[in-house]
Amino acid sequence: MDSQLIKTVNKLQDAFSTVGVHNPVDLPQITVIGSQSSGKSSVLENIVGRDFLPRGTGIVTRRPLILQLINRPATETQTPDNKANDYEDPNEWGEFLHLPGKKFHNFDKIRDEIVRDTELKTGKNVGISPQPINLRIFSPNVLTLTMVDLPGLTKVPVGDQPKDIEKQIREMLMKYITKPNAIILAVTSANTDLANSDGLKLAREVDPEGLRTIGVLTKVDLMDQGTDVIDILAGRVIPLRLGYVPVVNRGQRDIENKKSITNALAAEKAFFEGHASYQSKAKYCGTPFLARKLNTILMHHIRNTLPEIKAKIQNALVKYRQELAQLGDPLGDGSANQANLVLNIITEFCTEFRTIIDGNSNDLSS
Ligand code: GDP
Ligand code: NA
Ligand code: MG
Repeated sequence: MDSQLIKTVNKLQDAFSTVGVHNPVDLPQITVIGSQSSGKSSVLENIVGRDFLPRGTGIVTRRPLILQLINRPATETQTPDNKANDYEDPNEWGEFLHLPGKKFHNFDKIRDEIVRDTELKTGKNVGISPQPINLRIFSPNVLTLTMVDLPGLTKVPVGDQPKDIEKQIREMLMKYITKPNAIILAVTSANTDLANSDGLKLAREVDPEGLRTIGVLTKVDLMDQGTDVIDILAGRVIPLRLGYVPVVNRGQRDIENKKSITNALAAEKAFFEGHASYQSKAKYCGTPFLARKLNTILMHHIRNTLPEIKAKIQNALVKYRQELAQLGDPLGDGSANQANLVLNIITEFCTEFRTIIDGNSNDLSS
């Protein structure tokens, strides 16, 4: 996540909490949909920048995982960026709703717990369940927002799966992507036909104008020699208003060899920069560009929310002033001053956001 955005949102949250308004900006939920094994969990994990989701061939994600990221300033000494996955960072931990009070500082253990609780509720034989797993991650390096990892669309039941598995998974996904504040990452592997993309088809049902759907093309590294996704990126196949981002996640072998996210991101960068088709547009490819696109959407959202919040504060301020005029300042609590301060900060933010957004707006139209 972009550190400038994190800092700005934190400032805003802090300003509001001084006048008793908590979480004024309700950020959109980021959801992933697509066929089974298209790389949804891999994409989410790369965006968060930590290893903790079960990934692999076959149906690995079998219940929705509602991941609440919560920004919390570092209280202990900052730790290095490139740390081993089982490094127990005092500033970062996960907590499950079903295990209240238990802090997981080791992210490998978070993954183990997701697998354990999935099996507990759905059995080992590839069953599925709409009952979500709720996980909160506290970290100085995240934005306070929600991401949802979902099972993949599949047609043919296997193991203990119900006969109508296609319908059940569809309904499960619909519940999350129908929400108007859901940003949909429609994930399709680049080595399959885009016209058959289940994720895009479903996204179109709830977001026909493509206002909140981003196309993500995974497995670009596995495409046949001599083929590429250039036509898709140029909008010549299925145009999407917010466009497509090609990515390269870790393959199954990388998972088995426990390749770190840092190394995976470096390999992704090298792939796009070294590929004849992508070289000239490498800055519009890969996970960092996807993260920037998301940041821009989030900033637009925040900017659109600000006038409403500003009006509320302005009203409160008028009320304070009237009370003060009638009563003097008997409580002497300085509420009016604080509200004034917050108003100033918001006004400053509006300008700051416009500058940031104007600087990034090319990303959205590319
Ligand atoms: P999900 O079922 O959609 O959540 O997909 P996963 O993230 O679990 O990935 C499914 C399999 O595809 C795993 O074995 C991943 O290693 C592999 N995979 C995902 N994305 C890529 C990619 O961009 N390149 C390669 N080579 N493999 C990938
Ligand atoms: Na999978
Ligand atoms: Mg998955």
